[in-house]
Amino acid sequence: MTQTITVIRGDGIGPEIMAATLHVLDAMKLDLAWEEADAGMVALEKHGDLLPQATIDSIKRNTIALKAPLTTPVGEGFTSINVTLRRMFDLYANVRPARSFPNTKSRFPNDIDIITVRENTEGAYLSDGQAVSEDGETATLVQRVTHKGSERIVRYAFEMARKIGRKKVTVVHKANIMKSTSGLFLKTARQVAAQYPDIECNEMIVDNTCMQLVMKPEQFDVIVTTNLFGDIISDLCAGLVGGLGLAPGANIGEHGAIFEAVHGSAPDIAGKGVANPCALLLAAGQMLDHLGMPDQATRLRNAIVATLEAKDNLTPDLGGSGTTTSFAEAIARRL
Ligand code: NAI
Ligand code: MG
Repeated sequence: MTQTITVIRGDGIGPEIMAATLHVLDAMKLDLAWEEADAGMVALEKHGDLLPQATIDSIKRNTIALKAPLTTPVGEGFTSINVTLRRMFDLYANVRPARSFPNTKSRFPNDIDIITVRENTEGAYLSDGQAVSEDGETATLVQRVTHKGSERIVRYAFEMARKIGRKKVTVVHKANIMKSTSGLFLKTARQVAAQYPDIECNEMIVDNTCMQLVMKPEQFDVIVTTNLFGDIISDLCAGLVGGLGLAPGANIGEHGAIFEAVHGSAPDIAGKGVANPCALLLAAGQMLDHLGMPDQATRLRNAIVATLEAKDNLTPDLGGSGTTTSFAEAIARRL
């Protein structure tokens, strides 16, 4: 049966990288159909709403979305659409792979292959519980970690590891100091890990993890951690393998999933046709894996790697002089 995907073209470079991504996916002749929906600044201009009901309904109906970056207007009254979507659809697992690719500007060894599994719905990123005292002297932030939230994210990491043949899961925490929140996360992680004797599990305190990632990144396989630590660590990992143009992410829940690039709408290069489409293409690869098409996902990733290897029409961020379109065409030729 044809799977329909909600496609959100987004703002800034969004429409350019989405056109490039759909060009490659169409060339793969998959049993997928696209349903266009607006969100972000485009939607605000067209419908007077950053996140129109029709878009929410489309994601609900299809349960899978491929989303280009959205601009969140600076100012009062605008909450991030990304955060809203993650909450609305309870997309609790943020899965961010960072892999070495040929001919990138990474200064690290070529054998990095780390997947960060970040808790996406609780921890330090609650909108409630943030307050500044009237005199402006004191600010407070409530963190909330639950057994249920920790259990499902750690289980997600172990199940994923088992399914794709990964060997080790590192639980990253700060339970020595944040004894309540990080303590509960670690305790829960130990309980879950005990049910996966086939997968090595180790524990690492977050500050040491950052140092270890920079000194010896090849020791890491899968990392599972709470929201804030995962946000920071996944960007660190993207930096290890050559930057934002190659960093995809999946937001996954029980009843839906949204696939996107980690980067934003890049207003500085929007409209110039030079944005690197790889991050969104790699997110599409995660989507194919999620849809049970791992062979097609591998086919797509192999075409990207072969194009990078050949330095064929690479975009300027990778040191080439190709365009978004010519790079995508080069990838499509190698499928
Ligand atoms: P950004 O990620 O858009 O850009 C940072 C730098 O990386 C810029 O110099 C940009 O040119 C470059 N860059 C990003 N993607 C690239 C690509 N595919 N190819 C080549 N170069 C690329 O971050 P910034 O400027 O902080 O944010 C711009 C807007 O994007 C803001 O409105 C922000 O709220 C939004 N944003 C949206 C996200 C999403 O929709 N998931 C995520 C992050 C930011
Ligand atoms: Mg971030």
